[in-house]
Amino acid sequence: MTHDPLLLTTAVEAVTRAGAMMMARLGQDVRIDKKGAIDLVTEVDLAIERTFRALIADRFPTHAVLGEEFGGAAEAPAGPCWVFDPIDGTTNFAHGLPIFCSSVALEVDGDAQVAAIFDPSRQELFTAERGGGARLNGRPIHVSRADRIVDAMLVTGFPYDVHQRVEEIVGLFAAFVGQARAVRRLGSAAIDLCYVAAGRLDGFWESDLKPWDIAGGALILQEAGGRITTYDGGRFSSRGRQVVASNTVLHDQMIAIVRDFESRQSGPHR
Ligand code: IPD
Ligand code: CA
Ligand code: CA
Repeated sequence: MTHDPLLLTTAVEAVTRAGAMMMARLGQDVRIDKKGAIDLVTEVDLAIERTFRALIADRFPTHAVLGEEFGGAAEAPAGPCWVFDPIDGTTNFAHGLPIFCSSVALEVDGDAQVAAIFDPSRQELFTAERGGGARLNGRPIHVSRADRIVDAMLVTGFPYDVHQRVEEIVGLFAAFVGQARAVRRLGSAAIDLCYVAAGRLDGFWESDLKPWDIAGGALILQEAGGRITTYDGGRFSSRGRQVVASNTVLHDQMIAIVRDFESRQSGPHR
């Protein structure tokens, strides 16, 4: 499928502009508010999303926008919708830990067609167009070839309601730690997915994700040869909340670990 080149250009412009805004304020006294006990939003998140909405309104006035801080359609609308996370890794950003990025995907009828994720600390720009492969700073990327969990480095994240579900979240974490070479926890789901896409990590799982956390990273991963599904192996949707993502080869082994853990629990995960 060929895409209007202005779509990817706009996605790249949005996330690189966001990156410049983050780096201009990193480590400074930034206003931080709480959306929940451990769920933060800074004035930089808000400023970046305002700038993004102005860009899309100017360039594609008929397109819908779903952003973390100012909302949008809960269900994927028919037609084009930009799904935007101004800062993915806000907790890291608020603490001055340089692992965060900005992520955008253009979905059409709920399926991402174009995506861009920019990590300004490393100046790494991940992009993808459906059917056109995935790139890191313009160079094609591909998932790893690891074929056994014992040889795999995995990554996960903890959702903001972890205090209410700590045993379940840490229980599944323990199940993976007990079988993998290593498990990391970086604090940015979008970077996690890009690193699986680039072969730096071999697999990722997390529950209770939001569309803006995963819409861009999922396309980049799929275009790099990876696979992303729900915990039970079902079709990925950015509205699906729980994901297992992998280099494809390890996918069934990761699903089996989740299934085995769930069968030892009283009920299924969210
Ligand atoms: C969060 C990050 C984190 C993940 C959380 C997300 P935010 O997004 O992606 O890695 O564990 O589930 O909510 O709040 O920094 O945009
Ligand atoms: Ca996020
Ligand atoms: Ca965010």
